[in-house]
Amino acid sequence: MRGGHPAPIPGRRGAVPGRTYRDAMPKPKAMRHHLVDSRLGRSGDDPIFALNHEANARLAAGEDVLNATLGALLDDDGRLAILPTAARAVSEVGPQDWAAYAPIGGLAPFLQAVIADVFVDIPELADQAIAVASPGGSGALRHAIATFLEPGQALLTTDFFWGPYQTLADENERRVRTFTMFASKDSLDLAALDAAMQTSIAEQGRVLLILNDPCHNPSGYSMSSADWDGVVEIVTRHASSAPVTVVLDNAYAAYGPPDAMATAMRSLAALAGHALVLIAWSASKSFTHYGLRVGALVALAPDADERAAIEAALTYACRGTWSNCNRGGMVAVTRLLTDPELRKAVDSEREELIRLLGDRVDVFNDVAGAAGLAYPRYAGGFFTTVFAEDAARSARRMRDEGVYVVPIRGALRLGICALRAADIPRAVETMARALG
Ligand SMILES: Cc1ncc(COP(=O)(O)O)c(C=O)c1O
Repeated sequence: MRGGHPAPIPGRRGAVPGRTYRDAMPKPKAMRHHLVDSRLGRSGDDPIFALNHEANARLAAGEDVLNATLGALLDDDGRLAILPTAARAVSEVGPQDWAAYAPIGGLAPFLQAVIADVFVDIPELADQAIAVASPGGSGALRHAIATFLEPGQALLTTDFFWGPYQTLADENERRVRTFTMFASKDSLDLAALDAAMQTSIAEQGRVLLILNDPCHNPSGYSMSSADWDGVVEIVTRHASSAPVTVVLDNAYAAYGPPDAMATAMRSLAALAGHALVLIAWSASKSFTHYGLRVGALVALAPDADERAAIEAALTYACRGTWSNCNRGGMVAVTRLLTDPELRKAVDSEREELIRLLGDRVDVFNDVAGAAGLAYPRYAGGFFTTVFAEDAARSARRMRDEGVYVVPIRGALRLGICALRAADIPRAVETMARALG
């Protein structure tokens, strides 16, 4: 009842005049809540989206603002860069495919096309892989976390990591453990990885290691072949004493340095039979269709029985989370991956975007080097991070000068993907001042 006089409870013998429905209901206890305890206090605000919103509001008010917060590739006019052939493939999907359900685990031609794409440099291993469709790489990561860790157990990743790993872990009642990412600006801290794997095995008897490569978000780092050799040695050693699963999150695969994916996949292939290898595959960035929500989790498991069990568990997980994925999106991406003409066109259009991004990376390296900023080796990709002692304070100072970056623990993330090459010197100079 809203406002006005309280209504007496009608039709009840002995009803007390003046008593209301509300009076008759059990009194809420001070702390009683419909949300279960584990979901109380969760923030619905994504801090990156909030900063983006603020930057855009200032831009709309006519201020000269640089917004380097969001993770989507913009062209030099500040519009989302879209591969025309990918957009055409999406627009050519018929209503039957947009309207109909897809099989729970995904359309078979889509899954085959994704597996062929992942194993392009080692096609002989494609027969040992299975895949299920997921809404983007995020869905693939969700399945990896929920299927290869028990509730309460912790995934392992680098101490700089994409924030949603934590959200995915929280949402699925898992935790995040990190190891120090860098031994130097040019190398992973392999000793830290080794020790952290040891701790995970001692505490929970298994490891789920997530590596985001190439073009790590947020640091921009792409692993060298020496890094990969070290990872293979350490993982193989630990995999002899406990189940170890390695997830390659290669959301930015298309934008990495030449051969980065070939190096990663050959290294992961060397793990097959020791560790379980998973690839969280995403069409979001590689086909510039972030909102299409097309992705897949690929598992490389040489043992046929284990492979079948994993495929069944992942298909069950699909049914138990999103039921099935966007059929129209899968149809479009399958054509882009398998139709020779479309593939050629989309690959050459993507080359243009890689060049656009590459020019920005070069400008950044020149001016940031000259300004003496400290950051990991940056050879390509959407982001870089500059190490910062008090990142929150530095980001605030930058905002005062109209430049928006994302403060993370120990660093400032700069979305090169969202800046014109001509704007990068201003962003770097502002950052250098803010760090001083
Ligand atoms: C590191 C990383 N992994 C995975 C993803 C997955 O994105 P999506 O779910 O759109 O494929 C992203 C997107 O920003 C990312 O930055």
